[in-house]
Amino acid sequence: MSETGKSVFLVDKQTGVETELPVMGGTIGPEVVDIRSLYGSTGMFTYDPGYGATGSCESGLTYIDGEKGVLLHRGYPIEQLAEQSDFLEVAYLLLNGELPNVAEKAEFDEAITKHTMVHEQLSQFYRGFRRDAHPMAILCGVTGALSSFYHDPTDIADPKQRMIASRRLIAKMPTLAAMAYKYSMGQPFNYPRNDLNYAENFLQMCFAVPAEDYEVDPVLAKAMDKILILHADHEQNASTSTVRLAGSSGANPFACIAAGIASLWGPAHGGANEAVLDMLNEIGDKSRMAEYVNKARDKNDPFRLFGFGHRVYKNFDPRAKVMRETCHEVLGKLGINDPLLEVAMELEDLALKDQYFIDKKLYPNVDFYSGIILKALGFPTSMFTVLFAVARTVGWISQWKEMIEDPTQRIGRPRQLYTGPSVRDYKDLSSR
Ligand code: CMC
Repeated sequence: MSETGKSVFLVDKQTGVETELPVMGGTIGPEVVDIRSLYGSTGMFTYDPGYGATGSCESGLTYIDGEKGVLLHRGYPIEQLAEQSDFLEVAYLLLNGELPNVAEKAEFDEAITKHTMVHEQLSQFYRGFRRDAHPMAILCGVTGALSSFYHDPTDIADPKQRMIASRRLIAKMPTLAAMAYKYSMGQPFNYPRNDLNYAENFLQMCFAVPAEDYEVDPVLAKAMDKILILHADHEQNASTSTVRLAGSSGANPFACIAAGIASLWGPAHGGANEAVLDMLNEIGDKSRMAEYVNKARDKNDPFRLFGFGHRVYKNFDPRAKVMRETCHEVLGKLGINDPLLEVAMELEDLALKDQYFIDKKLYPNVDFYSGIILKALGFPTSMFTVLFAVARTVGWISQWKEMIEDPTQRIGRPRQLYTGPSVRDYKDLSSR
């Protein structure tokens, strides 16, 4: 962040007192007003519920231009990464700031591959969950439990330890997620295999059974890899901000990621892909589509079209464009003629032409298509958000690492506008 030489003035109309606030700039994107001195000079805080106008940190990882539908990781457009890169390379990029060279890539891929196993004792935790537990509940619990396996050796002040913790999380998350799936299916856990790449290994851990050989379909593994890339990071969203806030107190990084998983679970965030499929199933066929679009438009109806709208994108979500193509590739490869896809395409069409959606700039987001692909790959809807968590772990841990390494980092502590009772005297129980 650098000073722009510009400033804005806040004028108290009653007293005429002026407060000058410096304007800071980044590399691209809107400048920010630095309000750190505001309370000291005016005795006032800012009020911004939902943080729609608040920059909470400096970050060099991800840039989004919501008006233009642009998403960059370390400067690279998401479309190029999705087409030309692979998930572990994107993970390296987010963690380290640059794309790896040949030797760096080989070392990173090998290190991640060789850390995919989890402590055997961890499998005991799974057996403590109800059989019908939601896999996000399980993932949240076991990721939190990882902190008990790596608490003492994780000194977050040591850069090497931070990197080891980051790599462990990226490596082990697919194993934990696949175990959550296997547990919910009542099938034995599969160990990771070092001869497979990240996406292939994840599919193998989820879908192989001891009774027969499992061959990973390269088209499906490529689609899985793309889904992971498209979900790897997304700036300061709810779950990432949760990880940063939890981590700002110096907490164990594995526990911070568990906090991120909890935040991701909600239907307004990562849970939307599951909600999209439920919604498409509920709509059922094209004849009922107009009814649902009308429900979404109705101010008195809490219903929203899941998979539409975004806090930041007021144009097509660039991830949704790639996901749409991948969706067709996967369904074509598998020869699936999914009626839900027809409903989805028709719904997309209808909503994009609808004045309400146009006026409010509500476009399909990444979750609109990802659910359909994941269904085609064989995942039950309850696993959709788990897959999002596997991918986003890369973003969360890279953002956590960036925060710990930021010299201006302090414990996160927002303020409030107090609206409760003013001071009053305690009344004895008998006189209440
Ligand atoms: N269907 C119908 N109306 C909507 C929708 C929708 N999906 N999304 C927003 N609106 C309306 C909303 O009612 C509001 O209307 P008004 O101005 O009359 O009050 C207006 O559009 C602005 O919406 P908002 O709720 O103020 O916007 P937000 O930035 O707080 O919410 C959102 C963003 C993603 C939570 C919201 O668009 C939504 O609930 N979408 C459906 C859930 C979804 O698909 N979430 C996945 C987001 S992408 C994955 C991720 O990053 O997690």
